[in-house]
Amino acid sequence: ATERTLSIIKPDAVAKNAVGAILKRFEDAGLRVVAAKMMHLSPEQAGGFYAVHKERPFYGELCQFMSSGPVLISVLEGENAISKNRELMGATDPKKAAPGTIRADFADSIDANAVHGSDGPETAAWEISFFFSQMEIASRPA
Ligand code: CMP
Repeated sequence: ATERTLSIIKPDAVAKNAVGAILKRFEDAGLRVVAAKMMHLSPEQAGGFYAVHKERPFYGELCQFMSSGPVLISVLEGENAISKNRELMGATDPKKAAPGTIRADFADSIDANAVHGSDGPETAAWEISFFFSQMEIASRPA
């Protein structure tokens, strides 16, 4: 089925000037960018987005890192967009990410791991609406 997923190109990958290279991987895999914006999040905004991880030991560092520089936030649309994006990203920890995945090629550590992608349909809907209004998503039903 056609799905939408939220993608974030994280501060480490933006600092490496890898935005274009990463977006190309999405496009080459048949995903379409239907919304996008560059933001420099505040720690509070990052904390709101990652609220589900509030009790995890890495939450503070995660919010710090995600607000350390600009990020490119986008909505990707396509056939099985959620799982396709997760395959393209590879495992959360770049040391465990399969060769050829975005994290294997661009990530430095489990914190600076280049990209975020929604992990399921409900998360995707929540994450997309956290950053984008309906009017900011430029796709029309076929
Ligand atoms: P992301 O997919 O953006 O979701 C939460 C982020 O927390 C994750 O990628 C990692 O960058 C970061 N993180 C740091 N430590 C851990 C950990 N032990 N387990 C999962 N995520 C972690």
